[in-house]
Amino acid sequence: MHHSTTPMMALPLFLSSLFLLNYTTLSTAANINKKTHFRPELKSELAETPVTTFFEVTKPIQVPRTKPCSYLLLQHDFGYTYGLPPVLANYTTPSHCPCQKFAKIVLQWEVTCNGTQFDRIFGVWLGGVELLRSCTAEPITTGIVWTVKKDITRYYSLLMNNQTLAVYLGNIVTSIYTGVYHVNLTVHFYPAKANLGNSVGEYGSWADLISPISRNLPLNDGLWFEIKNSTDIESKKFIIPQNAYRAVLEVYVSFHEKDEFWYTNLPNDLSNPPQNGAFREVVVTLDGVEVGAIWPFTVIYTGGFNPLLWRPITGIGSFYLPSYDIEVTPFLGTILDGKTHEFAFSVTNALNVWFIDANLHVWLDKKSVKTKGQLLKHYISPAVVSLISNFTGINGNILTTVNKSASSVG
Ligand SMILES: *[C@@H]1O[C@H](CO)[C@@H](O)[C@H](O)[C@H]1NC(C)=O
Ligand SMILES: *[C@@H]1O[C@H](CO)[C@@H](O)[C@H](O)[C@H]1NC(C)=O
Ligand SMILES: *[C@@H]1O[C@H](CO)[C@@H](O)[C@H](O)[C@H]1NC(C)=O
Ligand SMILES: *[C@@H]1O[C@H](CO)[C@@H](O)[C@H](O)[C@H]1NC(C)=O
Ligand SMILES: *[C@@H]1O[C@H](CO)[C@@H](O)[C@H](O)[C@H]1NC(C)=O
Ligand SMILES: *[C@@H]1O[C@H](CO)[C@@H](O)[C@H](O)[C@H]1NC(C)=O
Ligand SMILES: *[C@@H]1O[C@H](CO)[C@@H](O)[C@H](O)[C@H]1NC(C)=O
Repeated sequence: MHHSTTPMMALPLFLSSLFLLNYTTLSTAANINKKTHFRPELKSELAETPVTTFFEVTKPIQVPRTKPCSYLLLQHDFGYTYGLPPVLANYTTPSHCPCQKFAKIVLQWEVTCNGTQFDRIFGVWLGGVELLRSCTAEPITTGIVWTVKKDITRYYSLLMNNQTLAVYLGNIVTSIYTGVYHVNLTVHFYPAKANLGNSVGEYGSWADLISPISRNLPLNDGLWFEIKNSTDIESKKFIIPQNAYRAVLEVYVSFHEKDEFWYTNLPNDLSNPPQNGAFREVVVTLDGVEVGAIWPFTVIYTGGFNPLLWRPITGIGSFYLPSYDIEVTPFLGTILDGKTHEFAFSVTNALNVWFIDANLHVWLDKKSVKTKGQLLKHYISPAVVSLISNFTGINGNILTTVNKSASSVG
């Protein structure tokens, strides 16, 4: 049996009826403050066991039958990297590849690790634009290997320019937590067949310009903003070209410490210290006006609830944290003036830390120097939360229901 001393884990006894697992078996995940986390040693981890391949069950990436032009972007051993600047590399365009038109571009993160280690959250950025948010697997002493392959074709225009690649994976190695993550980061460019024309993606075509709505280098951790409580607002100024005709804000989100399992948090009248209930939403504003909100998928990291559940098949989204798209096109008319504007992020009810940043995908009208737009209708209601609890003594259930509607026409 193992336990944790994080405040999140100090749950009142009556909460145990809400879990399939008894709360004393809760373990930890994607921690930031390493001192408060534990990981079990397993007696069954025999030395002769072969290296185990960990994986997440995901939809395979459909790649063309063409042979990819592949190269290594970064090889690095993430040992004592906690609180250090991200590891940097010079990204160069695939100018040496025989073909210069690509139907699919795939990022590959391949890792070996031996020993004992926590699950760590990490991010990969290109020119400040986030390409991947993910969680490491918790290794075992006989060694593990895992591969994350992500379709990054939507970042096509970004990938056609040389820029700085940054990877932040905050790890700490001690005599007990011995795991060092040995990482190879590779990119595969799959040539388009000559007569295929433009590759058509989920947006119809890829954005012409992708701007980071993230923190700037240099810094001593990830390029994400850290939202530390329910009133914290983090923002970034930007300018877009005046001939834009479409814009989508892609938001990356991960939740940590007291909010790692926010969806199990109790309402404040049943918790001390307050847990702010089981509802969170990431609110996105443009020049102070709410333009969208995200209700994130409840990704369970590889140390979550009980690490034994995630060996070797990890939880949905743990290796591929989802990003969320907010359609900004209806608001374009208000930001096409060539002036500086601002996106800001906050998290309703946040107890503590959320790592959030975004990529602004912009489509440009190459036949004009200036487009025009107008917001015709915009409605977004605050989230209306209702709680129904039914307790008999210390056992009970709490049902949280939330209503929100949003509609924008431009
Ligand atoms: C990137 O290239 C520049 C110029 O050649 C060099 O000074 C710099 O050290 C390189 N950076 C990395 C991380 O390799
Ligand atoms: C990127 O850098 C490489 C190597 O320095 C160079 O060959 C290539 O032309 C550059 N690409 C662009 C788009 O500038
Ligand atoms: C990384 O690449 C090197 C050299 O190609 C190889 O020896 C090593 O096994 C690779 N590591 C992983 C984790 O794939
Ligand atoms: C991890 O341990 C396995 C066997 O237990 C060994 O084959 C492998 O080389 C080790 N890997 C590293 C990176 O130390
Ligand atoms: C919320 O977080 C911000 C940023 O860290 C901090 O300045 C502020 O004092 C915090 N507010 C409360 C109520 O803790
Ligand atoms: C409340 O819980 C009790 C015990 O589980 C159950 O018998 C009762 O039907 C519940 N009441 C409501 C309104 O759900
Ligand atoms: C949510 O909205 C629906 C439809 O308007 C309504 O039936 C329901 O009662 C609302 N629920 C809450 C919790 O406000």
